[in-house]
Amino acid sequence: MSDTIADLRSDTITQPTPEMRRAMAEAVVADYARDGCATTARLEQLAANLTGHEAALFCSSGTMGNVVAFLTHLSPGDEIIAERDSHFLHFEAAGCSALAGGITRPLRGRAGRMDLEEVAAAIRPGDRLHPGTGLIVVENTHNLAGGTCLDTGYMSRLWEIAAAHGVPVHLDGARVFNAAVALGVPPSELAGRCGSVMVDLSKGLCAPYGSLLCGSAEFIARAVTMRQRVGGGTRQIGHMAAAGIVALESMIERLIEDHISARRLAEGIYGVRADLVDLDLVQTNMVMVKTGPLGVSAAQLAERLAAAGVRCHPVAPDRVRFVTHRDVGSEQIDRALNAIAEVLAAWL
Ligand SMILES: Cc1ncc(COP(=O)(O)O)c(C=O)c1O
Repeated sequence: MSDTIADLRSDTITQPTPEMRRAMAEAVVADYARDGCATTARLEQLAANLTGHEAALFCSSGTMGNVVAFLTHLSPGDEIIAERDSHFLHFEAAGCSALAGGITRPLRGRAGRMDLEEVAAAIRPGDRLHPGTGLIVVENTHNLAGGTCLDTGYMSRLWEIAAAHGVPVHLDGARVFNAAVALGVPPSELAGRCGSVMVDLSKGLCAPYGSLLCGSAEFIARAVTMRQRVGGGTRQIGHMAAAGIVALESMIERLIEDHISARRLAEGIYGVRADLVDLDLVQTNMVMVKTGPLGVSAAQLAERLAAAGVRCHPVAPDRVRFVTHRDVGSEQIDRALNAIAEVLAAWL
């Protein structure tokens, strides 16, 4: 394998910034689970303010934030309406069912977007025979759809439908700051009227750890118990919270640079062969490339690209994903594009 030009498998591989490392080393910490911690409290308040909620709870990962939300919202046997390629349905070890007792009602979306008429039709009150809808989950940006956004119009309509039926909405907002930056709106406009939102610090924001589950003060008070139940009452977590504060205060606006890189990458690949990329779906920091037109599998393409120094992630048998992030600069993107073009040329 040649030297790596660009590792574009995920934005989860990002390194903490020098400022984060300093903040972690110097953080004032305490036994958060026993006594509370001023540093963590500050992070939680920042996240609550950004998302338009009263309170927030620091969790170890996006997966934990989601499962704590499910545990807090659901009673065993409740139904969860969600887009069928949602991250929590595929990659979170079935915590929604195994731990929270939810049964899922997956709906097919387009570009990560469920049809809202179908959502409304799927909501049911529950009776002697049928489970009742306990939660609607949406993902923004949508990972498997390629980083696509749900806009404020969609969210407003969803909130209206959910409120009319008395069902809460949980937003898996692992990358909601990408959506907010791409759409040019404050994150609170995408998240504020959800029953809960999880935002992740360890993706494009480059922190080494953690997510924040945000909601009303009453919801978060109940969520504290659920986080304890899954072992999330970490003690001197203030070190990690300090990095998270840097992430929320200084790393959100720069996400636009990752979006510009993704667009450059996508347009470059499109220029080599237009049927490999749907440019309309390149809305944030991800680029999905179809391998069917090349007559190869995703694994084969990923292997050939890795040999040429560009790492990507096969997300389906016929699709690879490139994710741009802070640790891949524009010069690397240019070099990666050249390498990709050479590899693709072999199959043209
Ligand atoms: C949409 C979405 N939700 C949740 C998660 C889980 O986050 P974590 O890896 O921090 O557990 C991810 C991770 O990639 C994700 O993409």
